[in-house]
This record gives sequence, structure tokens and C-alpha cells, in this order.
Amino acid sequence: MPPKKYNIASIPADGIGIEVVAATIDVIEHLVKTLKTFEIEFTHFPWGTAYYKKTGEYLPDDALDVLRKFDACLFGAVGAPDVPDHISLWGLLLALRGPLQLYANVRPVRMFPGTRPRLADCKPSDIDWVLVRENSEGEYAGQGGRSHLHQPWETATEVAIFTRVGIERIMRFAFETARSRPRKFLTVVTKSNSMRNGMVLWDEIAREVARDFPDVTWDKMLVDAMTVRMVCKPASLDTIVGTNLHMDILSDLAAALAGSIGVAPSSNLDPTRRSPSIFEPVHGSAFDITGKGIANPVATIWSAGEMLRWIGEASAADVLMDALEQVCRNGVLTPDLGGTADTKSVAAAVSAEIEKIV
Ligand code: NAI
Ligand code: MG
Repeated sequence: MPPKKYNIASIPADGIGIEVVAATIDVIEHLVKTLKTFEIEFTHFPWGTAYYKKTGEYLPDDALDVLRKFDACLFGAVGAPDVPDHISLWGLLLALRGPLQLYANVRPVRMFPGTRPRLADCKPSDIDWVLVRENSEGEYAGQGGRSHLHQPWETATEVAIFTRVGIERIMRFAFETARSRPRKFLTVVTKSNSMRNGMVLWDEIAREVARDFPDVTWDKMLVDAMTVRMVCKPASLDTIVGTNLHMDILSDLAAALAGSIGVAPSSNLDPTRRSPSIFEPVHGSAFDITGKGIANPVATIWSAGEMLRWIGEASAADVLMDALEQVCRNGVLTPDLGGTADTKSVAAAVSAEIEKIV
């Protein structure tokens, strides 16, 4: 039988997204060539700010249909200094996450060996979390508007939308994620003291869903107190679920506590598998380091590892992650982690390490 072949869409988009996706594809192609157990073909799409400046759109009209033909998508980052961030983000990434119903955004966080802890008394084993972010509604539902433009009483509303369907499906996904991990422990983050409608519905649904998972222990936190717990008692956390906005913020904090935003991966999953899922680093296009060749590719390489696991190539993902950890242990680190290596040399070191493992 010929080896199984996967078709992956690559959308590097903007800034360091272009640099880290190129480095990651080199590593994945090397992994595939070394393992010889399956094949991957990357198809590149030029969607991003350069495409927008040429066509007036971040995505062509048939983008969703085009992407639906792929097994998965590897994404870089979108955003440019000369385009308002809400135009670029809604034009590309949010135009995919919502319509493809990629409702679970999974953000694992842990400290890599060889990297410095940001917290003085934190052991590497203290930070080993999976953050589950609701990815289809909430504060980023896009509801609202502006009126009385340029008047002194100019008004803007940003309405958060919380639906029973949306909350229940992410809650079930989070309990299942918690169940799949050794500690079987979930923390539900809300803000149900001051936000007395949507956040109270989150709390109620958490209690309902918990009944179906008697083997999972869970607790709940208000989001402000959660920032304190993440810093002061990191070892008390394992799987964490929260809204689109709350987990967007908490996942940047989590990444920084674990060393750098440059090592934080994310998966935008459609757990029903009707649409291809999108794998991308948590970070953005990083204007300050674009073009310098020093962006940390670890977050994107790890995201590609999550992609391999999702499409059914778990043992390839294990090889990739072992290689990535060894490279960090060896001190081949970019400046955000205190090292002097550049993007390409980290990727080359991961490829070399893969050969040693296989
Ligand atoms: P950012 O994540 O791009 O950068 C924040 C800081 O982290 C910067 O100092 C940057 O140099 C550093 N950093 C980020 N990734 C790094 C890496 N791989 N290696 C080393 N250092 C790294 O966030 P910022 O500055 O708020 O946003 C810049 C642009 O990116 C904006 O247009 C924003 O809308 C967009 N953005 C896009 C995202 C996406 O496409 N998923 C996510 C976050 C922001
Ligand atoms: Mg973010």
C-alpha cells in the first residue's frame, strides 16, 4: 500500500508569520523524509496584507471552499503596521475561525528544558497546563456598532454573545481534555460576579456538564483572581477553560510565565471534523522583529506537532516534540529565551535532532 498522503494548506500571511512558517515547513518536510511512513504536501496561499493591498480583500470569495479540501491548515500571523489591526484580524483569521466553526482553541503551555523560569521559585514541572479557549462567540462575536460618529456623544457598543450551544460544546470539550490528562482536573474561568448574565450561564452549564464527568475534579475562578493564581500557585492548575477574551489574555500571560510567547502553540479545532482545523502560534506578526531572522520558531513547530497528532500521526508528533525539547536542552535558543540563535539555526538544529532520534 502506498504511504498515506496529507494535504496541508499553508497561510504564512504577515510579518514573522512568514519566517516561522517557512522554518516549520522545512522541519516537517525533513521529518517526513526521515520517517518515510507518510507523505505531506503543503499548498501555499498568499493571503495576508500584501494580498489585501493588491485585491482589497484579505481572502478571496471562495477561500472557505478551497480550504475545506485540505486535511488541515498551518497559519502564521496576520497584522501589519499600516493596516488597522481590526481590519487585518477580521479580514483573515476571524473570517476563518467563525465560518469554519473551529470552536475549540487549544493552547498547551509548558516550560521547555533549558529555558529560564520567569518566576523565581517556579520549577519546570509547575507549569504544565492546557488552556481551552471558546473560539466562536463571546466577546469576539462581532456584535455591536457605532453611531453619532464624530459627535461629542459618539457611541460604540461591543456586545458579548453567549449561547447555550456554544458554552456547552466548549465545556464538554474542556472536560474531555481534562479527563485525558493524568490529573483529571479542570478550572472554569468566568467573571460571574460583575457580569451577571452570560457569565452566570457559563457557571450553570459548567455545573450541568460536570455531572457527566464524575471522574474529573473541577473548580472555578474569577478571571482577575486567576491571574494571581497563575503567578503565585502555578502548580495548582492543569486544564483551564474560559471565554474567547479571557483566554486570549490568560494565554499570553501563561506563555510569558513559561518563558516566551515565542514557544506558545495553538490549535483551532473543529472537534466534529467537518472542517479542517487550523494550527498556528499564539503570537502575532511582531513588527518589532520582522525581517531580523530572530523570531522563535518553536511555537509554530510545536503547532505543527499538534497538527500531526490531530491528523493521526501521533508517533511523528512525538519524534518532533522530542527533537524540539532536545534542541532547547542543548541551549539552541532565540533571543526571546535569552539565547543567540536565529530562526533558521533553531529549525536546522531540530531537523538534525530528528535524524538522531529516528
Ligand atoms: P505580537 O505577538 O506580534 O508581539 C508581542 C511581542 O512578542 C513583541 O515584542 C514580539 O517581538 C514578541 N514576539 C512575538 N512572537 C515572537 C516570536 N516568535 N519570537 C520572539 N519574539 C516574539 O503581538 P502584538 O505586537 O500585539 O501584535 C502585532 C500584530 O500581530 C498586530 O497586528 C496584531 O493584531 C497581530 N496579531 C495577530 C495574531 C494572529 O494572527 N493570530 C495574534 C496576535 C496579534
Ligand atoms: Mg492573542
